[in-house]
Amino acid sequence: MSASQISNRIHLTYLVDRATPSEDELHPGSDVVRGLSQTPKTLPPRYFYDDRGSLLFEQITELPEYYLTRTETEILKTCAPDIAKITGACELIELGSGNSTKTRILLDAYRSAGHPLVYCPIDISAGILENSAQSLLIDYPSLEVYGLVGTYELALEKLPHAQLPTRMIGFIGSTLGNLSSDECDIFLGQITQALEPGEYFLLGIDLHKSSQQLESAYNDRQGVTAKFNLNMLQHLNQRFQGDFDLTQFEHVAIYNERDRQIEMHLRSLSAQTVHLKALNLTVEFLSGETILSEISRKFDLGEMKELLYKKNLESVQSWTDPNQWFAVLLCRRR
Ligand code: TRP
Repeated sequence: MSASQISNRIHLTYLVDRATPSEDELHPGSDVVRGLSQTPKTLPPRYFYDDRGSLLFEQITELPEYYLTRTETEILKTCAPDIAKITGACELIELGSGNSTKTRILLDAYRSAGHPLVYCPIDISAGILENSAQSLLIDYPSLEVYGLVGTYELALEKLPHAQLPTRMIGFIGSTLGNLSSDECDIFLGQITQALEPGEYFLLGIDLHKSSQQLESAYNDRQGVTAKFNLNMLQHLNQRFQGDFDLTQFEHVAIYNERDRQIEMHLRSLSAQTVHLKALNLTVEFLSGETILSEISRKFDLGEMKELLYKKNLESVQSWTDPNQWFAVLLCRRR
């Protein structure tokens, strides 16, 4: 297949709102300053993902203890044909264009059902978006890709109307669990707003289970999750001329059973002072003090269906694995 036959089928729209630049564009790193000035200290998870961080994350998804990706993939393999049957011809809108393995499972099901293939990935990075579209365009010769470059929020506001009879927004990988309960509420409201009545939302969520199993998933024996967490400090060093000493912090992931969430921290191993020159910031750490870098909430399937229903997203069908570790839900906008 020639390069032009591929490039003809990828259409990118840049949603970056030039009129009102974001807080981050105006004051890069202001979220870092805010997080490190709070008690307890926090850092925004988006700083996990520099090039090394993205590679480490890929490795996490393949770890023996990290059952999430593997389990969700298995569920999708069994339910994708049902989903294609329920929705009929349908545009696939995906929040995040990361892992094409799972996208392919859905595309395969729609192709087998004889439906046309339209895929709309949404990503803040045009580069990541184009890369992940490339191999899909080669392997699916009739596929049309309409990529939206921008934040989820902006993309959900500006979603183009369907060319096919209906649309489905996919949000998989239990990324919903990385939002606080307030953020989750707002986000689901935005999903509802973005959909016409009758259109679909496909959600993957990790389910509540024993602390022991959850903690081992986020404290793998090879220490990849620890590297991933610590890499955030390395990233901040590079980006903002910092002097975090990576040997003086350790990775901690604990399951908070009351709030049903994994809490990932970076714990200071000594009393120390850190500078981020480019941000004009000096931060004092007590020995043992922690920075919260991520939460990963775990859900009850029934409660999630109720929450979705309150948001006018009615559950059509849901699927889990034999152990009931993970769930995939198909909902319809009421
Ligand atoms: N949403 C997945 C989870 O919570 C993936 C993920 C997001 C993750 N941030 C992470 C995994 C940080 C490990 C560490 O598991």
